[in-house]
Amino acid sequence: MAMDFKKLIHELSPLEKKVLLVLEKLQGKASPETILKEGDFSQDVEVMNAASWLQSKNIVTIEEQVKTVYALGSDGEEFIKNGLPERRALRKIIDLQGIALLQDFKDVLQTHEIPVAIGWLKQKGWVTISKKDTITILSVTDLGKSVFGKEDEDEKILHFLSLHPNSEIDTKKYHQLVSRKNVVKEKEIVLGYIQLTDFGKQVLSHGIVLQDEISQISDKVIKERLWEKKPIRPYDVSAFAPRIYGGKLHPLNVLIEDIRQIFLEMGFQEIMGNFVESCFWNMDVLFIPQDHPARDMQDTFYCKTPSEISFQDHKLLDKIAQVHLNGGSTGSDGWGDDFSKDEGKRALLRTHTTVNTIRYLYEHPQPPAKIFSIGQVFRKENIDATHLPVFYQIEGIIHDDHATFRQLLGVIFEFYSRMGFEKIRFRPGYFPYTEPSMEVEVFWNNRWMELGGSGIFRPEVTEPIGISNPVLAWGLGLERIAMLKFGLQDIRQLYQSDFDWLRNTPL
Ligand code: PHE
Repeated sequence: MAMDFKKLIHELSPLEKKVLLVLEKLQGKASPETILKEGDFSQDVEVMNAASWLQSKNIVTIEEQVKTVYALGSDGEEFIKNGLPERRALRKIIDLQGIALLQDFKDVLQTHEIPVAIGWLKQKGWVTISKKDTITILSVTDLGKSVFGKEDEDEKILHFLSLHPNSEIDTKKYHQLVSRKNVVKEKEIVLGYIQLTDFGKQVLSHGIVLQDEISQISDKVIKERLWEKKPIRPYDVSAFAPRIYGGKLHPLNVLIEDIRQIFLEMGFQEIMGNFVESCFWNMDVLFIPQDHPARDMQDTFYCKTPSEISFQDHKLLDKIAQVHLNGGSTGSDGWGDDFSKDEGKRALLRTHTTVNTIRYLYEHPQPPAKIFSIGQVFRKENIDATHLPVFYQIEGIIHDDHATFRQLLGVIFEFYSRMGFEKIRFRPGYFPYTEPSMEVEVFWNNRWMELGGSGIFRPEVTEPIGISNPVLAWGLGLERIAMLKFGLQDIRQLYQSDFDWLRNTPL
């Protein structure tokens, strides 16, 4: 299809036209700064916006060019004030009637500058050097005399650079000065160029006129019937526009918010807890035996500071000790082993959010209560496709005079079905703090995935904190749900800031 140049030109904005007209005047290529000046624009963004529209239409290209420019180096700054070393030396020699010895320079040159000055005096042909015995004698030449009181080429360019830093200079002509590294310094800068393409030249050859046109319909245009006097610029609704990715919540945070809403809608209240807890709350109160492998340094992160967190309710401390030793008054035999109260003081990063729940029950022993929390827990796991050392748990309890096992199944089932998982099953499980205990699994992509644990707190847990009725409890993994929801093969992807994935994850 033949290109409709008329239509294309018709649809150019006044700013695009202005850029093209300036480019035409400047042989088809210019920097944005030049176009800004030449084209009577008010801001550089006008030029750049117009240029990128023109680029998208293939009329110009925007190219970057690297330029080597020069400015004064650290010595250069100083020499501008005091003169180049050879200049200072020359003045001194002429002061001394045209002949000088090395020690004569002590008051005009620093020691390290003397050889530099002599080198350049000779190189520039300002002096001749002779030796008598061990004494070096410098005598001014005619050339030396002729440059006295005048700037030489090096000094001229130094002055120029002090007034116009980052300029391009003729490095062939000034190679001597450029070779003096601390006097001038070299820098590379990137400059943008806007250049007409061949297609752009064709567009221009059809003639572009800037005309007064209506580019936006305003009330003034309507009231004053301006459309009858000026043309209206066509508006291309199919024009290319860059896709903008605005800020948004991370998919995991969206999921957390959804889960929070589900529990709130089901009548639960949210609680929060600390990351750093004592062994007492994280393990002892939950009737986890002190020789349980989960307490190992290999499984749990213990803290250095604080290394201990003590707890003042000595009655409860005693009761828990008794429960572990012999069951106390809970009707249990306990674990029978030694029990160390000091062990309970050790500070750790909570290994499960069940620690929040049990603390809450201790502080609010009165039923009814429906509580949940969503928070991170910490375990010394090796990182792989399905394990992270820091992960979220969705924890909850129902504390009610009439709470039943069936209710527990029902609540968990209800939660998952609201999350979109219809097929779930419970398997018998084991936790030291619940009886019965269950694992929850969900069927997804043709296989069963383990998602968490649940059960009814044992009397060894509830009795010491003054609770006699059943407490239904669960702790479910969140990242596993996220993997299923987002179709991830690897749990690590959730934390990798992979923008492609973050932008395109449908939520
Ligand atoms: N705390 C258990 C875990 O971390 C989950 C759980 C919570 C089990 C409450 C039973 C009751 O896996």
